[in-house]
Amino acid sequence: MKLSFLLSALLTAGLGFATTAFAQDDSLVAQGKYLATAGDCAACHTSDGGKPFAGGLAIATPIGNIVASNITPSKTDGIGDYSEAEFARAVREGVRRDGANLYPAMPYTAYAKISDADIHALYTYLMQGVQPVDVAAPETKLPFPFSIRASMWGWNLLFLDDTRFTPDPARDAAWNRGAYLAEGLEHCSTCHTPRNFLMAEKSGDALSGASLGTWYAPNITSDPVHGIGGWSVDDIATYLSTGRSDHGSEAGGPMLEAINKSLSHLSPGDIHALATYIHSIAAKAGQVAPGDTAQAAPLDDDVALMNGTASAGANLYADHCSTCHQAGGEGGNGLPALLGNAALRRPVADNVAMAILEGLTPRDGLANSQAMPGFGQVMDDSQVATLTNYLFAKLGDAGVQITPARVAALRAGGAPSPLLALARDGMIAAAVVVVLVILALLIWLLRRRRAA
Ligand code: HEC
Ligand code: HEC
Ligand code: HEC
Repeated sequence: MKLSFLLSALLTAGLGFATTAFAQDDSLVAQGKYLATAGDCAACHTSDGGKPFAGGLAIATPIGNIVASNITPSKTDGIGDYSEAEFARAVREGVRRDGANLYPAMPYTAYAKISDADIHALYTYLMQGVQPVDVAAPETKLPFPFSIRASMWGWNLLFLDDTRFTPDPARDAAWNRGAYLAEGLEHCSTCHTPRNFLMAEKSGDALSGASLGTWYAPNITSDPVHGIGGWSVDDIATYLSTGRSDHGSEAGGPMLEAINKSLSHLSPGDIHALATYIHSIAAKAGQVAPGDTAQAAPLDDDVALMNGTASAGANLYADHCSTCHQAGGEGGNGLPALLGNAALRRPVADNVAMAILEGLTPRDGLANSQAMPGFGQVMDDSQVATLTNYLFAKLGDAGVQITPARVAALRAGGAPSPLLALARDGMIAAAVVVVLVILALLIWLLRRRRAA
């Protein structure tokens, strides 16, 4: 009797303990899953049609394809043998369990800001919430000298700031949470900040706008004219979760991808925090449109179109665009206006040409929304340029123009695009430059020795 009581008491206590531990782990797994979405880990670590996190996706970089690792808890082919400390070192410092350097195609430069607590949750999720997949990801084979992983130490020396995020005590909790997410897991600056000749972000011009080779990531500082100074915190939050704003912006290209895969899954609190932080970014003019004046009058070619005296641009607009955007560009019936559209206030015409070439889809699952078809098949490069230039002349800044050659480059996926490569592939291009500079320095030193 006594014994059975003791046993059952022990059992109950044991079970109780087990349940609590399980519940704790459960919420930790859920938290880790959420953070993995914020950091978009699955986007790179899952191959097309492959099992989640099993790796194998080849990421194209200027120096060759870099294959994302299997990060499932498989003991044979994944990170099953990683301790939490080894995992933290890989994610924040770019060093693998065996001590080899990772290529910065893995964005450890941004993830360096991740806190210990969030690393713990990410680790718990990957170890307990993800199915192990015992299939090896193909090996990365780069040409010499990049095949030597140790060549990354020089690059890290120059560009890896591996300090954790430190909260600003003068700001409130929402601002600090937003800054933590924006600078770390969400890394907004990889796209929105212009870079210097060594491909490092110009911190003094943070978030003031940069070209990604095809799409232009606009100025999102608080500059009232060139940035989003006129947007409220709520306007920014709405855009980050829906891809739309009342300021004439509809997200396309890489921003739409970020919204679909990551931002639209964040909690309202985190979206609000991100918006609070972005709203506070000091104003910078960034790259400015030449004339810097936006026209405010609707298109008015009706009479000329009837007389047959309208310009080529006006004819293209009437033939392909006015059914949805209306004759004057006012939009309506849920379709956006081109009059006052943010795409026509950019310092470059690329995003308008990209929208015409590829079309534009609203965020996944957004209610009551329509898509714009692409016209890349029905219009040639010079027609796209003529139409784009017509719209800028009439509704935007007449000084902003695009050439058929530039349209051809956009159609082909952009001119060689260090920035997109940097955003997606984490600054590999910079590594090339740094290796070359170091080599040049060594040769120069050797020559001087010989001369002496
Ligand atoms: C932009 C693409 C990209 C994203 C996003 C990304 N990774 Fe990676 N990751 C890579 C690539 C590529 C490698 C392999 C690099 C190499 O072989 O040098 C890698 C390697 C790793 C490794 C080392 C595994 C090993 O032994 O080879 C870990 C751990 C890892 N990633 C975890 C994460 C986590 C956690 C996240 C999300 C917070 C994440 N990654 C997001 C591209 C990415
Ligand atoms: C992969 C590149 C990329 C990343 C990462 C990215 N953006 Fe963007 N962003 C863009 C591009 C490109 C556009 C222009 C889209 C368009 O006009 O169709 C844009 C547009 C915007 C706009 C609209 C500005 C306007 O004037 O219309 C805001 C606001 C914005 N981004 C905020 C952010 C924030 C905040 C983050 C981080 C949480 C972020 N972006 C991350 C590429 C990116
Ligand atoms: C079938 C209707 C339809 C037609 C035809 C159409 N559009 Fe659109 N357009 C849209 C919709 C819908 C959006 C907003 C999509 C979204 O929310 O992502 C849009 C957005 C745009 C934008 C904003 C791009 C940005 O990055 O914010 C521009 C510029 C544009 N259209 C120009 C044109 C031009 C030029 C034509 C003619 C070649 C055209 N559209 C034809 C429906 C249309």
